[in-house]
Amino acid sequence: MPNAARTFSHHRLLYGGDYNPEQWPEEVWAQDVELMRRAGVNAATVGVFSWARLEPEEGVYDFGWLDRVVSMLHDGGIGIVLATPTASPPPWFSRAHPDALPVGPDGTRLTHGSRDTYAVTAPAYREACRRIVQQLVDRYGSHPGLLAWHLHNEYGTYDWGEHTAAAFRRWLRDRYASLEELNRAWYTSFWSQHYRSWEDILPPRATQYLHNPTQVVDFRRFMSDEMLAAMCEQRDIIRAAGSAAPVTTNFMLPTWNHIEQWSWSDALDVLSVDHYLDSEGPDGETHAAYAGDLVRSWSHGEPWLLMEQSTINMTMPQRRPHKDINRVIRNSLSYIARGSQGALFFQWRAPAAGSEVWHGGMVPHAGEDSRTYRGFVELGRILRDIAEVAAPPDDGPVVAADVAVMWHAEGWWALETKHLPNDRMDYASLVRGTHRALWHARIPADFVAPDGALDTYKLVLVPSMFPMDDAAVATLERYVDAGGRVCVWPFTGVADENMHVVAGGYPGRIRSLLGVRSEEFHPLGPDETVPLSDGTTGELWSEYLSLDGAEVTSSYAGGPLRGSPATTRHRYGSGTAYYLSTVPDPASVRGVLERLCDDAGVQRPLGVRPPADVEVVVRRGANADYVFVLNHGDTPVEVTGPGEDLVTSTTTTGGLTVAPGGYAVVRTDDTTPEAGWRLD
Ligand code: GLA
Repeated sequence: MPNAARTFSHHRLLYGGDYNPEQWPEEVWAQDVELMRRAGVNAATVGVFSWARLEPEEGVYDFGWLDRVVSMLHDGGIGIVLATPTASPPPWFSRAHPDALPVGPDGTRLTHGSRDTYAVTAPAYREACRRIVQQLVDRYGSHPGLLAWHLHNEYGTYDWGEHTAAAFRRWLRDRYASLEELNRAWYTSFWSQHYRSWEDILPPRATQYLHNPTQVVDFRRFMSDEMLAAMCEQRDIIRAAGSAAPVTTNFMLPTWNHIEQWSWSDALDVLSVDHYLDSEGPDGETHAAYAGDLVRSWSHGEPWLLMEQSTINMTMPQRRPHKDINRVIRNSLSYIARGSQGALFFQWRAPAAGSEVWHGGMVPHAGEDSRTYRGFVELGRILRDIAEVAAPPDDGPVVAADVAVMWHAEGWWALETKHLPNDRMDYASLVRGTHRALWHARIPADFVAPDGALDTYKLVLVPSMFPMDDAAVATLERYVDAGGRVCVWPFTGVADENMHVVAGGYPGRIRSLLGVRSEEFHPLGPDETVPLSDGTTGELWSEYLSLDGAEVTSSYAGGPLRGSPATTRHRYGSGTAYYLSTVPDPASVRGVLERLCDDAGVQRPLGVRPPADVEVVVRRGANADYVFVLNHGDTPVEVTGPGEDLVTSTTTTGGLTVAPGGYAVVRTDDTTPEAGWRLD
């Protein structure tokens, strides 16, 4: 659990972004500080990729330029988020330690010339990291302008080389203690994979045909743990030196699944995330919400920080979304509504050249005489005016939710192994589809770990979590037994944590919880769907199900399973366990979830259902609550209720119009339905 005592300031929202002044002559720096001040920027992330400038030769340091940057920022009233530069070792390092370059699964050793060219397991790399971190903390650890430590950048670089093979073996010895146990867990009796010596074991490098799936998932568990250990080494050096600034590292969403976030969360003072929208269209709004809800949940309901988002444009393969500045402001408010302690961007000034030259900046290539920069001045004004939202409530989460979606990186890793009954079942899409449907239904959601605390939720949703360990099963059973409601997607709990199928009928781990038994999977093809008797449609999956205590809520109305149970409900102890044996298609999922939420007595914020395209999120604060109204649509919306909009300093008691594309942040003492809130 993040350490609340070592957290960001509660009196303001952080605003700014990555600042890479080493790209510019020093004359530009003074202008940067002046423009930052004008825009209300109060935080600059420096040093992220500065290793070659800070340590131009092994053991030779040049901090003069960073000293000047830090002083200029501090004198200008701009706080410093100081990064450790370890995501990009300099060329001299790779030449001195070629064994520390990363090796791909096919044995290709990469070279320097980009970034992230290191094997996290290489002793020379780890030692070099410790040295530069020690230098940084000795020099800047007690600087009054230091807001936070930003360790590394987006941990997630894999390696399959010899250092990694050795470290993987060490990790496996810890996990399994004996080769016999490893052979059992990995099911090496198949295909003559039996290991007689620890030295026989390799990372899952390129091989002839399918990898051993348990080995693949163990390797991902190991890589996450190894990167976490590397990060903790840096954190411990900083803490040992007595630096009081909170420590964070920037997670990367949405497409990365290289780390197991719940265990990382416990190691950090504050969580932060880099988030880049996955859609140019309106669905981008649901994506911002998805990121915010995930990170807040990994933070156990506490505030977190949006460390990077794109400005108005970004460059990604096949995708060059352009956001107008109004959308940038609405997205920023969406993250803040969900608990972010600010809005930071990549990056402050658009570069003149280099690999990311076309990735926008807060100061674009056009310079400050641009609507982009003027928009950022306006965002700075807004964040100053709503700063009081940063003070978190004394108790409970920063956003309240009755519904939780189960999330675990291992569920994703497992569904990425090959030759499953349906290789098109994609964990990230299923979880995101579930969250998206709740967003459209205007129902706030948290995410929970499989062994997380469920008791405050009225409904827990479990999208296709194929392996489940004992703790996950016990947690779900206890929760439902005590009166909770859980709804489980197909291909959940069919195997244990080693991905061994539980025999006797699917889903073996949770058969008694669900009161059903499935004998056969009938996965659906790419263009195939199946009608259900309740009018909904299933996709991806179907199965031949019989009842063992549950009752049928709908049956298959077509296809080879016509007439057999499709969805079920089971009383278990004082609660209810629902099972979906097919995946509701995008047109059906919202209705399915709304019915479940209604049955569970889930309330919408303020007791209102806002018009489509209008998002309402209530952020809980120390002295009041804050209703964020984000109008993503093209018609105005009128907000009426007891409060005051901090963006326009206008009361909402008699109604406040939020224009198309507009926003309001309403301070209120009463978010109950009885207060008479209306949005129309
Ligand atoms: C990531 C990195 C940044 C930058 C941006 C560009 O989030 O952390 O250094 O490369 O992507 O999209």
